[in-house]
Amino acid sequence: MASSNILKNVEESFSIPLPEIKRIMERFHREMEKGLAGERSSLKMIPAYVDRPTGKEKGKFIALDLGGTNFRILELELKGGGRMSEPKAMSFVLYKKHITGRAEDFFGFISNCVKTFLRKRKISAGQKRSLGFTFSFPIRQTAIASGSLINWTKGFSAKGVVGEDVVRLLRISLLRHRIHNIEISALANDTVGTLAAKSYEDKACDTGVILGTGTNACYVEEMSKIRKWHGFRSKDAHMIINIEWGNFNKLKQNSYDRELDERSYNPGQQILEKMVSGMYLGEVVRLVLVDFIEKQLLFKGVESPILRKGHSFKSQDVSLVESDDSKGLRNIEFLLNKLNISRSTPEERMLVKKICEIVSTRAARISATAIVSVVTKMDPKVSRRHTVAIDGSVYEKHPHFAKRMHDCLQEILGKKASRIKMVLAKDGSGKGAAVIAAVAAATS
Ligand code: BGC
Repeated sequence: MASSNILKNVEESFSIPLPEIKRIMERFHREMEKGLAGERSSLKMIPAYVDRPTGKEKGKFIALDLGGTNFRILELELKGGGRMSEPKAMSFVLYKKHITGRAEDFFGFISNCVKTFLRKRKISAGQKRSLGFTFSFPIRQTAIASGSLINWTKGFSAKGVVGEDVVRLLRISLLRHRIHNIEISALANDTVGTLAAKSYEDKACDTGVILGTGTNACYVEEMSKIRKWHGFRSKDAHMIINIEWGNFNKLKQNSYDRELDERSYNPGQQILEKMVSGMYLGEVVRLVLVDFIEKQLLFKGVESPILRKGHSFKSQDVSLVESDDSKGLRNIEFLLNKLNISRSTPEERMLVKKICEIVSTRAARISATAIVSVVTKMDPKVSRRHTVAIDGSVYEKHPHFAKRMHDCLQEILGKKASRIKMVLAKDGSGKGAAVIAAVAAATS
């Protein structure tokens, strides 16, 4: 088959035309309903035990933001009137040994970081602080400050945490490290944090999205529609629902998706995440590149042992490739050199760029489709304004991701797309944990 035909086939296997988008939205709504009813569904629809903040919350809070490659601790002051101070933050790197070792060591490392932070911020043992804990994994929440881990995602696998209350594990560890002045008053997913942080200042914000190492979203649901909720329900009350959309599995997988899934540490799970998030975007591209090399359509079939290795092509590389507008595509050439591909023609580099574009455009279209599904669950006719707070490296750093999402939103909704405002909510998950700790303090 001629190379242009093969490229066309690949392009088709990644395309999501409008009728398919509509089908996905229907299935998304059905899965949301089932999840809310407590029936079997790929969408867990987890009640977050918290509504949006009022904007009036005040006080100094600490937040612990854990769930991506970096782990952060921050302190910030909520001033009321929707205003907050710039957070004072410290970042720590989570190494493989922390995320794949024993629970004790995992939480021990976190406690040591908290100790360092308190020392650095000069918060003495006598000064009590409430802490909001953002833990960005699927949690079966049982109260505002407790919840057990359902399963790990994003390559984390510390033993002895699944099924356990992560707040209890952290509390025990803090005490073991002689930290007595920290009260963990809220546990939140990063999407919930992002929504809380943005809605503290913007009342129209009702959706929080993460497009980073992993992907997920949450939104504000009427309590009467959360059929599996058996707790107290006041009239007109709302609760934030953590959708866990990364696990949505009603999407068409092509041969590359299936290969990636089969080789992953969690086959059959996080199907949407594997098509969209930063942990996998580069890997999908890599599988297509290897296929093209094997078919002698790239680099005269000369293999790169580096590219043969899983995850050697990163999502940052996808961004770099798609940012290269230089004559001769020199940055792509430089990247290929690093991958041990020392000879490439400008046409081949253009083909690499095209492949990245195909893969990331699908990711952006799936993200937009999922956002419209969430908004139309709350407001089927999109009759009011909605702010969607988005955080994460893919949305922030990829040169065309946000624009492609926006174009897709318009394709689906036409003029009504202007009622959905997608905004970057930088560091939302960390700030939001502090806001939720404040909401918890105000309601306790
Ligand atoms: C986790 C979610 C999280 C998302 C973004 C996913 O892998 O399951 O809980 O919100 O990553 O960090």
